[in-house]
Amino acid sequence: MAGHFITFEGGEGAGKSTQIARLKTFLESHGKTVVVTREPGGSPGAEKIRQLLLSGEAKDLGPRGEAMLFATARADHVDTTIKPALERGDWVLCDRYADSTRVYQGEAGVDAAYLKLLETAAVAGIYPDLTLLIDVPAEIGLSRVAERSRSDDSGGPDRFEGEALKVHKRRREMFLALAKEEAHRFAVIDGSRDLDKVAADIQKAVTGAFAEEFEGTGGAKKVSEAAT
Ligand code: TYD
Repeated sequence: MAGHFITFEGGEGAGKSTQIARLKTFLESHGKTVVVTREPGGSPGAEKIRQLLLSGEAKDLGPRGEAMLFATARADHVDTTIKPALERGDWVLCDRYADSTRVYQGEAGVDAAYLKLLETAAVAGIYPDLTLLIDVPAEIGLSRVAERSRSDDSGGPDRFEGEALKVHKRRREMFLALAKEEAHRFAVIDGSRDLDKVAADIQKAVTGAFAEEFEGTGGAKKVSEAAT
């Protein structure tokens, strides 16, 4: 495939959206055509399924049913958005992809072999060239999320928040384990530092992974310039 496929993964409050926007600007400054997309969603059909999943309407289906919906959305997203963009030679930056299903639905108890079957069917051979795992401790991620939506009467950690922290910690461990298992396509980025440092690390990972695409363009120099 002519294009380049980069996925962003991580827990809540990792700062993926900000970093995707930064990488898009960087790549465009090097003359690349960039498509930013997200999961669940990223195509009209998949966005409808996103509504069902994130509103909680699909919750009664249980984690296995939800996993099937994530896979259905992904199949449409791949066919309608990702594959055509890669065939055109674009750079596709995707906020979450199949690794999120492995981690989130895996953590919720869905059997790994079953998830693997769904993944194979959904991605239809389209795997990321590079996956950037933006890693932050669960406490930091959760406090960033809380900061964002600080309008209600949250008076310290309640039972839900206590439970949520455990779940977030498990997801983080699972993402890190996945990055170790499939080290050939993962770069783990410490997302707990300031935005510019995180962006600079991401640019380094990308220019390193696709060195031939940045040769003779002053790529390495621009990385450090863009970081300051
Ligand atoms: P979103 O608002 O896009 O969250 P974020 O900014 O954290 O990416 O919501 C996506 C949610 O769906 C997020 O909590 C992770 C979850 N998710 C899964 O459980 N499985 C999946 O396969 C995907 C793609 C997302």
